[in-house]
Amino acid sequence: MKQQRAKFGSKLGVILASAGSAVGLGNVWRFPYEAGNNGGAAFIIIYLISVVLIGMPIIISEFMIGRRSKSNTAGAYKKLAPHTPWKWVGRLGVLTGFLILCYYVVVAGWTLEYVYQSLIDSFHGQDKDFFVNQFATFSQSIFRPILWLVLFMLLTHFIIVRGVEKGIEESSKIMMPLLFILIIVLVGFSVSLPGAQAGIDFLIKPDWGKVTPKVILSAVGQAFFSLSIGMGCLCTYASYFSKETKLGRTAISVGLIDTFIAILAGFLIFPAAFSVGIAPGAGPSLVFVTLPNVFEHAFGGVPVLAYLFSLLFYILLAMAALTSTISIHEVITAYIHEEFHYGRKQAARIVTTTCIVVGTFCSLSLGPWQQYTLFDLDLFSLFDFVTAKILLPVGGVLISIFAGWYLDKKGIFLEEISTGGAIRPWLYKFLIISLRYIAPIAIFLVFLNQFGIF
Ligand code: PFF
Repeated sequence: MKQQRAKFGSKLGVILASAGSAVGLGNVWRFPYEAGNNGGAAFIIIYLISVVLIGMPIIISEFMIGRRSKSNTAGAYKKLAPHTPWKWVGRLGVLTGFLILCYYVVVAGWTLEYVYQSLIDSFHGQDKDFFVNQFATFSQSIFRPILWLVLFMLLTHFIIVRGVEKGIEESSKIMMPLLFILIIVLVGFSVSLPGAQAGIDFLIKPDWGKVTPKVILSAVGQAFFSLSIGMGCLCTYASYFSKETKLGRTAISVGLIDTFIAILAGFLIFPAAFSVGIAPGAGPSLVFVTLPNVFEHAFGGVPVLAYLFSLLFYILLAMAALTSTISIHEVITAYIHEEFHYGRKQAARIVTTTCIVVGTFCSLSLGPWQQYTLFDLDLFSLFDFVTAKILLPVGGVLISIFAGWYLDKKGIFLEEISTGGAIRPWLYKFLIISLRYIAPIAIFLVFLNQFGIF
């Protein structure tokens, strides 16, 4: 007898699991440093426009493709467009997911180091220079980062093998709301630090002179990365949705939650960074050297509060990363399980082991293997660049063309978005125009421009 396909148990579970995938290191770690590297407010505005005009329609498309096909992302295109090259879109997504997971888990591992350091109270009474040095020494060393990444992959593995409802849904339900509350409290502290105003200005006063093709591509790439779109992740999750799930509403909730948390993270990091004199363009270290300062300064005189907040924050950040690593792992596991007929556990073991090996290379590329570069990028940065700035946007274009043209012509688009019934005509029109024209053309132009073609 064929085993029944897994399903999410409730509406809230669907939203929290999808938002759990979207909210992660992309919001708290990557968004601030990309915004910092690309000039601040103008980048953020382009990011927001990309989320609404391109991101939201693609979330809905991925939801449709997944729910309609009830398959892993590669199988989905095979089912919906049999005997066509569309299956390559799904396969490309799996490859993209693999590359992301391999470097993402390195940073996820760092969060565990920070949980540990908070726990043993080693940040107490330290200053900015200490945090900068401490991060550099740690992230460039050999064993500790690898140890943490292995542990993080094992945590991810453990949840994946527990299955969709018990593993993914239950954990998201607890972690997401807690993270949200804690960030809001911390933002309150950060914006009241001395000198914080410069950081707030950096976030809200756009300097349009700084906008270059690189900035635009970075903003589009960040929108894709943060929303978990362009690689079949939300498509895979949607294959566990029920017939009744309202795709439009779910997409809006996910988009809002994700964007809100990214913006909050901006208001957490930049006021604090400016306050203690850390450059906004500090790169991947930004969050890790800024935040400990917030904890140290915000609770002047009450060390126990600093201790508790720091500990709790890193635990929650690790958990936010975990709900994202789970979602990427699930894309690859479901693919191997369904397409190659391995047992689910066996498939998960293959994914975990391979990611540990390649993730280790990524980690070493920041330290002892720094001198091995391609296009001037170490392996870690190369994976980040290739996925966020090339593969996700390319995947996004293909998904939008597939949904806007192929699925729409077959009537599947309308059926899925309206949950079998009616939908407001303007929304449908907006989605189709975005998917058919705006998303593909905009991304194409940005690409041509970025790579110097016009
Ligand atoms: N959206 C996640 C984050 O912002 O941390 C990262 C991510 C998850 C990217 C899942 C891609 C993906 F499929």
